Amino acid sequence: MSALAALAAALPSPYDLTPMRIASVSRDAPRVFTWTFNVEKGFRFRPGQFNMIYAHGVGEVAISISGDPAVHETLVHTLRGVGSVTQVMERLESGDMVGVRGPYGSAWPIAEARGTDVLFIAGGIGLAPLRPAILQVLADREGYGRITILYGARSPDDMIFREELQRWRGRFDCRVEAIVDTAGRSWYGPVGVVTHLISRADIGPHESAFVCGPEIMMRFVVRELERRGVSPHSIWLSMERNMKCGVGLCGHCQWGGSFVCKDGPIYRFDQVSALFATREV
Ligand SMILES: Cc1cc2nc3c(=O)[nH]c(=O)nc-3n(C[C@H](O)[C@H](O)[C@H](O)COP(=O)(O)OP(=O)(O)OC[C@H]3O[C@@H](n4cnc5c(N)ncnc54)[C@H](O)[C@@H]3O)c2cc1C
Ligand code: FES
Repeated sequence: MSALAALAAALPSPYDLTPMRIASVSRDAPRVFTWTFNVEKGFRFRPGQFNMIYAHGVGEVAISISGDPAVHETLVHTLRGVGSVTQVMERLESGDMVGVRGPYGSAWPIAEARGTDVLFIAGGIGLAPLRPAILQVLADREGYGRITILYGARSPDDMIFREELQRWRGRFDCRVEAIVDTAGRSWYGPVGVVTHLISRADIGPHESAFVCGPEIMMRFVVRELERRGVSPHSIWLSMERNMKCGVGLCGHCQWGGSFVCKDGPIYRFDQVSALFATREV
């Protein structure tokens, strides 16, 4: 074996999986569940990044990390059972094993946003990829101006991280507003879409907006933010595309000239506005 071949053989493959045992499962909303893994060696990531998670014999999916970036001993993922892989994952219990590789992708620009007002806008399970960024910003509270979290869900039962949203609301140094598409009599909050909350929000000239949710929701949110004078340079979106390799090799997640796994999933809006305006076939 040549020295080069020996070196290549010794290097880890981008497809190497780490077997991990699910330490606990919490059921957050219909079809939505959160896995916690204990990581003895520690796990470090930047808010907004994702892992590829493999269910034995079923397949692999990209899942954002939803845990606290300051806590390295655990890894947390929040998933929704929507398809062939995630519905099998939904049936796994604590003690079951999955394969994990990552973290991959770009991150929310938390350091760049220091000194600005920060607006987090989430739709549905989109709160999961934003949670690490919210926790990091709140942990450095004096580094930021106003902090506002706007959250839209289908119904009160579909809201995730409900207790945490209450805790954040109770801090008084951050504004939390939630809205639902439909609700029964036990819901005292507003009913409608998340853009209604933006039209009522106090938005200043130095606003950084971090947005994550279904693409249709993000389109309307961006439009409303621009209408409210937020610069396209200050709007950040988390994009989803089907992924295979997760590391920029297969082209599966190509979006215009970029690969969402490598150049994304977090994009600054002005850099992708032309693509964002184009509906894919
Ligand atoms: C960067 C990135 C981060 C992600 N983070 C998360 C996360 O934190 N949690 C999470 O649950 N998912 C996340 N996803 C989405 C996740 O990867 C997909 O839900 C997953 O690929 C679906 O795989 P599947 O094989 O179970 O479904 P498939 O068999 O591929 O899909 C089956 C059906 O479900 C529909 N479907 C697929 N994805 C979605 C979706 N997201 N919403 C609604 N319908 C869908 C399809 O249109 C299809 O009809 C992320 C994706 C990316 C690219
Ligand atoms: S998933 Fe292979 S290039 Fe992005």
